[in-house]
Amino acid sequence: MKPSWTVESQAKFAASFARTNYRFRYFNLVLETGGDVIDVVFNYKDLAHLKVVHNTFDIFYSHISDDVQSCVVMQRLFGLNFPLTHLALQLAENRLFFHDSFLNVLLTSEVVADPLADHRVRVTTTYGIGAPRLLLPIVFPVLKWLLTRNYHVLMEGDVPMRDRRGELRRWGMRLPMTSYPFQDTLDLTARHVVPTEQVAVPEPASIPLASLSPGVPILFGRSDNYGLQVVRRDDVIEIFPRMCPHEGACLDQKEFKASSLSCCWHGRRFGPIVRFPLSEGPSAFAGPFHRFVVTGSELRIEPVALSEKTAQADWTTAVRRTAS
Ligand code: FES
Ligand SMILES: [Fe+2]
Repeated sequence: MKPSWTVESQAKFAASFARTNYRFRYFNLVLETGGDVIDVVFNYKDLAHLKVVHNTFDIFYSHISDDVQSCVVMQRLFGLNFPLTHLALQLAENRLFFHDSFLNVLLTSEVVADPLADHRVRVTTTYGIGAPRLLLPIVFPVLKWLLTRNYHVLMEGDVPMRDRRGELRRWGMRLPMTSYPFQDTLDLTARHVVPTEQVAVPEPASIPLASLSPGVPILFGRSDNYGLQVVRRDDVIEIFPRMCPHEGACLDQKEFKASSLSCCWHGRRFGPIVRFPLSEGPSAFAGPFHRFVVTGSELRIEPVALSEKTAQADWTTAVRRTAS
């Protein structure tokens, strides 16, 4: 097999069309959000979020490897389906390049992420529109408008993901991944969020069981490994986590209709970590990050500080009953 070759940049790719009648015009969109450079790279390489967070197009993959992904995107436009052939390449640690072909137009984009202070990042997206020389002045303004509109629609889903990861880092959470191969982003069982001693331990709290309305959760702590959602469903009390261990999404729900919840980033499902009947007498449960004491009329939650033993523990698995 011959060694592979990758184009160096968007500009070099466009320059290779010089022998044809195709020419390119460019425009930039710049955005500052929360997160580190790797969070932006993850966001662009994250294949699993496309169907859950965006869900406005259908995708048919032809190749997925560490730094290359190719597919056909079935894009709905004016009530009709248009197939776009799409290629995504990671060119450097902070740089990605994409190209699409659509009818007789070429769309390219290069994304560069630059770090700012306090887990914030600036992302510059340069769009390049290529078309036959005489057609370019006509299609450029139309496609610039469409691409800008599409960018803002996509960012409505993506910016909260980047902001959230910046927030987790500021709280002291460790997101240890330093690279994201495209294919690994489809593994929802991975755990890429690790609590550290910098994460603040919340004060213990008592919740009167009579104060719980059916289906409406009471929140404990904040959305980290200590955070909990306590909910009453019929005659049962259930306690759910507030942070997804996969990539750190907030799992808070406005309302619980079932005995499980689905992560809003990639769809991983979670059951309660504690479940007991409302009529339960005195009892207790213990997990790596909490001790729960039920007195009959009250649920007391006592957080447990991180130790060497619990640093790798998963806060979303069911906890065991102990002697009350
Ligand atoms: S963050 Fe990926 S499934 Fe929750
Ligand atoms: Fe996205």
